[in-house]
Order: sequence, then C-alpha cells, then structure tokens
Amino acid sequence: LNYLTPKSRLEVLDLLVTGLKRLEYRGYDSTGVAIDSPDSKNIVMVKRTGKVKVLEDAILEHFSGGEYSEPVMTHIGIAHTRWATHGVPCERNSHPHRSDEGNGFVVVHNGIITNYNDVKTFLAKRGYEFESDTDTEVFAKLVHHLWKTHPTYSFRELVEQAILQVEGAFAIAVKSKHFPGECVASRRSSPLLVAIKTKTRLATDHIPILYGKDDKKLTSDQDPDSGKPQDIRPHGQTRELPVLPRSDSTSEFMPLEEKEVEYFFASDASAVIEHTNRVIYLEDDDVAAVRDGTLSIHRLKKSLDDPHAREITTLKMEIQQIMKGNYDYFMQKEIFEQPDSVVNTMRGRVRFDGNAIVLGGIKDYIPEIKRCRRLMLIGCGTSYHSAVATRQLLEELTELPVMVELASDFLDRNTPIFRDDVCFFISQSGETADTLMALRYCKQRGALIVGITNTVGSSICRESHCGVHINAGPEIGVASTKAYTSQFISLVMFALVMSEDRLSLQQRRLEILQALSNLADQIREVLKLDSKVQELAKDLYQHKSLLIMGRGYNFATCLEGALKVKELTYMHSEGIMAGELKHGPLALVDDSMPVLMIVLRDPVYVKCMNALQQVTSRKGCPVIICEEGDEETKAFSSRHLEIPRTVDCLQGILTVIPMQLLSYHIAVLRGCDVDCPRNLAKSVTVE
Ligand code: G6P
Repeated sequence: LNYLTPKSRLEVLDLLVTGLKRLEYRGYDSTGVAIDSPDSKNIVMVKRTGKVKVLEDAILEHFSGGEYSEPVMTHIGIAHTRWATHGVPCERNSHPHRSDEGNGFVVVHNGIITNYNDVKTFLAKRGYEFESDTDTEVFAKLVHHLWKTHPTYSFRELVEQAILQVEGAFAIAVKSKHFPGECVASRRSSPLLVAIKTKTRLATDHIPILYGKDDKKLTSDQDPDSGKPQDIRPHGQTRELPVLPRSDSTSEFMPLEEKEVEYFFASDASAVIEHTNRVIYLEDDDVAAVRDGTLSIHRLKKSLDDPHAREITTLKMEIQQIMKGNYDYFMQKEIFEQPDSVVNTMRGRVRFDGNAIVLGGIKDYIPEIKRCRRLMLIGCGTSYHSAVATRQLLEELTELPVMVELASDFLDRNTPIFRDDVCFFISQSGETADTLMALRYCKQRGALIVGITNTVGSSICRESHCGVHINAGPEIGVASTKAYTSQFISLVMFALVMSEDRLSLQQRRLEILQALSNLADQIREVLKLDSKVQELAKDLYQHKSLLIMGRGYNFATCLEGALKVKELTYMHSEGIMAGELKHGPLALVDDSMPVLMIVLRDPVYVKCMNALQQVTSRKGCPVIICEEGDEETKAFSSRHLEIPRTVDCLQGILTVIPMQLLSYHIAVLRGCDVDCPRNLAKSVTVE
C-alpha cells in the first residue's frame, strides 16, 4: 500500500512480483496477483500455475496498456505464491480467491482453515457457488456474506467477524473494491508481519493496540471463555453463523508524524527488506488495517497479560544476504558460506583463549536446566537431524537423559511431558507448524521452552522462554545446509556451557573448543573437494538409489545426506545405521547398488570396518568418506573422499558437506530445480 510517492500500477505489480520471488522458497506451485483496474472501480486478477516467472510473463502480456502506467497516490495490490494443501496446483485453485464474480473481496491466505467444509455448507445454503477446491475461497465469501448482512460494518470489522468464525491456521490479507484504498490482514498460527516505510520517522516506535469494548462484545451465542460463537458446528451440523455486534474501539489510528508511508504485509521479511527494515510481527488474532495512510492494530478482546502496543523492530538483514551473488543457486551459495556461517554462530559466544562460552539467550536459565529431569530435542526434517547429530555429546556432557523427537510423531503419541522437562525446539524458519504445535503442547504442560532458530522474530522465537539464535544468515534454498551446521554448533555450545563446572570433563571440553577454533578452515578444506564430488556425481546420477551408511557420531550425516539426495534429486536414498546393516539392509547390497560409507578413526572405527567388509564381500563397491591419509581404510575401495581430522563429536559437520555437494551436483546433472525441489516448501506452516 503506497501513501508515499505516486507509483504506477505497473510499478506496484513489479514490486509485488519481486516480493513473491523473494518468498518463492515458501511455495511455488502456482501464483497470482490482484490490483485495481485503471479507473479504480474494479479489481483485476492474474493467476498462473507454476513459478513466479510464469506469472511475471503473464503480467507483461496482460498489463502492457498505457493506462497502467499512470501514477496513483494510493494503491493496494495483493499477491501470493502457493504451496498446495487443499486442491491441486492449477489456476483455478491459485490465490487470490474472490467473493463473487464482481471481485468484491479478494483474499490471499497461507495455512489451513480446518472448518472450511462447515462454513462452505453454510454459505452454499445462502446461494454462494464455489469455483475452487480450496479452503481459502470460503473466507472471501464469508466476508462478502457479512458485508451484505451488516452494511454498516467497516472493512476491518468484517474481517474481524470472519476470523471469529474460522478455525485452523491462517495469515490472510484482504482487499476489496467496496473499500478502495484499504487493506486488512490477520494471522493465527501462520506468520505475518507489517513492514513500514516512511519518509520521516514515525512519532513512536510502537503501534498501540486498539481493543473492542468487552462489555458490548459477548452475546448469549458466545462461549464466554473463548469469545467464539458456539453454534457454528454443533455435533457436526451446520447452523446459522451468528455475527457479533459491532465492537467499538476507543480511538482509531496510530499517531504518525506524517502520513507519507508505504505499508507491506508479508509472510516474512525477505519480501520487503529491500524497501524497509522496520517491521511489526503480528500476534495471533491481531487484525491490522490500513486506511487513509494509517495503520491500526486491533484485537477484539483484552486479556490481562496483553501488551498495549506492538513494537516496531528494526531488522539487521541485508538485501545481499538474500541475493544469489555469483552462484548459480542459493543452495550452492549457502553450502559455500559455511566457513563464515559457523563462525557467525560462535561469534561473541566462544572465547577460545579463556575456554569460556556464553550463550546470552539462555544463561539465566542454565541453573534451572541443570536441575531438569531430561532434555527433549524436537524438530522436523534437517533440524531434527541436528538433534540426532548432537545427542551423544549432550548425553556425555550433561549426563542427563536426552530424547530426540520428530515433532509430528511426538504430538501423535501425546508424549508425557513434565514441569521439570527442558524442551528444545529446533527450527531454521522458526515457523514449522508441527514444531510450533509441539512447543505449545510442552509449554502448556509447564516445561521450560528453549528455541533454537535462525529467524529473529519468528513464532518459535517469540513463544520460547529462552533460546539461541543460530545466526547463520537467511537461508533461501529449500534444502537446508548452513542452518544445519549452525544448529549443530549451537547445540555443541550448549553442551559445553552445561559442563563448564565439571572438573572431570575439562580435558574433553578443551579438545572440543580447540576443534571448534579450527572448524572454519577445515570446512574450507572440505569445500575444495567440490570438483571431486562433481566427478562422483557423474558416476551416480543415473542410478535409482543411493545407500548411505555410518554409525556413532556420523549416523546423523547418513540421515541428512539421504534427505538431501531425496529432496533435491528425487532419487531414492536411505541413511542406514551401519549397526543395523546385518538386520536387513544388507539384502539390498550387490555389485550394482551404489553405497556410500563413512568410516572415520573414532570409537566406532572397528565396527564401521566390519560393516565395510560385509558390503565388499557382497560385491558392493562403496564410496568411502575417510580421514586424510588413512591408507588402510582407503585400500577397501577405489573411490574415496578424504576429510580433515577433527574431534569425534564435530566430525558430522565435516562429513555432511560432501553429502550436500553430492546431492547438489546430482540434482544439477539430473536437471532438477535445485532451490525449489518439486512438492516441497522451505517453511511448512501447515500440519
Ligand atoms: C521443510 C523443509 C526442510 C526443513 C524442515 C524443517 O520440510 O523442506 O528443509 O528441514 O521443513 O524446517 P525448519 O524451518 O523447522 O527447520
């Protein structure tokens, strides 16, 4: 929304498309955009199946007329790139969705409206016809229904009433031809921020929250606790949707020094960082409305611990961090950034000379953590693997029971959680729905919540009691690389902090600290294997399958390596615990099955050699990842990758890098889209 300087509609479109490109890693199966027609009386939409580039081409075709180059002072455009949940990826199911043929209200939405069937039935009875298979469309039509039945409501009030009727997760932005120059957005469990660009500074760094008047709000139809209408779905039947009476607010808009301002609503900051670094992270059920150049944030109900304002955060993110630079792909850039990103994770925290580690975000909680019953490490995908990778060291240095859990499975099992548990939630994005729900589950049961994330201001950050920001810098490639190594190091640092006062562990701690200080250089050495790994990829890329075996500290690399291969190349790949080889996987091995084995000089070396021999005696010819100069191990295969020697518990950082490179090169050779693998998204904000 622009209240700053005149912009043509073409410029607005360009801004929206650039924003979508920056968000494309969140989903990329179909896209769409809605802007005003040249006379501002109608809304024009363009939607396409496929990536943002396809939309961009369609826009060029559609909006070439001169009328779209006329400058306008105020304009609201909304755009979306989709990761399909309900309804296959196609133009019909792309966002924005509309309320009626006249495009009265148009909506973009992330998340899932779980009660959409009930709302749909309700609306269908009132004559609404649906044109998509999505849950989102019901929201547009619901707002339209409310508008027809409550003509005195403001745009913001209509959206407020609509969000009271829907269940599930959403980040939503609504534009309407009946309310030109206005936009309303809201969130529940899906991320949403407002970014503000002003010519002069705002008069305040806080936006006051406006509340509805509680005494006017409740009706007999409402559940007094939740404030939600009680009768939307009694026993599976749909009944009349009650609409709450209008909620009056005390004052309307925020104080601004001047009204020359541009507002952006976005799922994350990368979409807007080239315009402004000042953002407000909205909280669940905030309704943010922009009208006449001013922003208001509104909530229907005030609870006791609510703050009075939302703070404007100034982000440190730089635009270069989200650009590819000289690399072909973000993933490639991020792999090669690791010598720096690991240092950034340790910066200001590790004092190599004084053998001291300070984790500012959790230091006050360390005494409490030391008294805990057990440590739970919870995450999804790659983040889960960082927990697997560091579990053994955490057990060794904390002497506490450590459980590692996939968030989805943890929730499925209704895992018992106690007040004296300490639960770590590991997430690059800080927004993964499964992880966030597991966090809320544990928080409700009184556990201490520790967030390990890469995204400042993310939901997991904000909902944790304390935590560590891994500082890896923005990660755009859908397949996680540098975030993994930084999560790994963050957990290692935590283990070191926990063992600070344990005399018997000082030698071990010193050894690890020493290894951490050499890590960046050793990663640089490993990255020099790139061309060798590329050659290996040429041997492997036409195969159907790749088995990756190891044990001990390197088992996590097997899981993570196999995940990278699957995600990026669509080849089958399996990370196999070498100890389990004889219990089944050995049956897969013959002279044609590609196998990669990690065999390092650590406490499980002899056992790994046994596994290696089991494979070679079945005519398998594994590629071996071994330590530099380890001739004895190398003799078992003609193909090997040598990595520098480091302390056992950090080997996983050096062994995972050849796996990242291998999956990258195989993906390139197979012609796969490295940064946007099919069917996946980087930030999965739905269950
Ligand atoms: C998605 C991504 C994975 C990632 C996982 C967890 O599935 O495709 O690369 O590891 O989510 O994401 P998080 O942001 O919680 O680390």
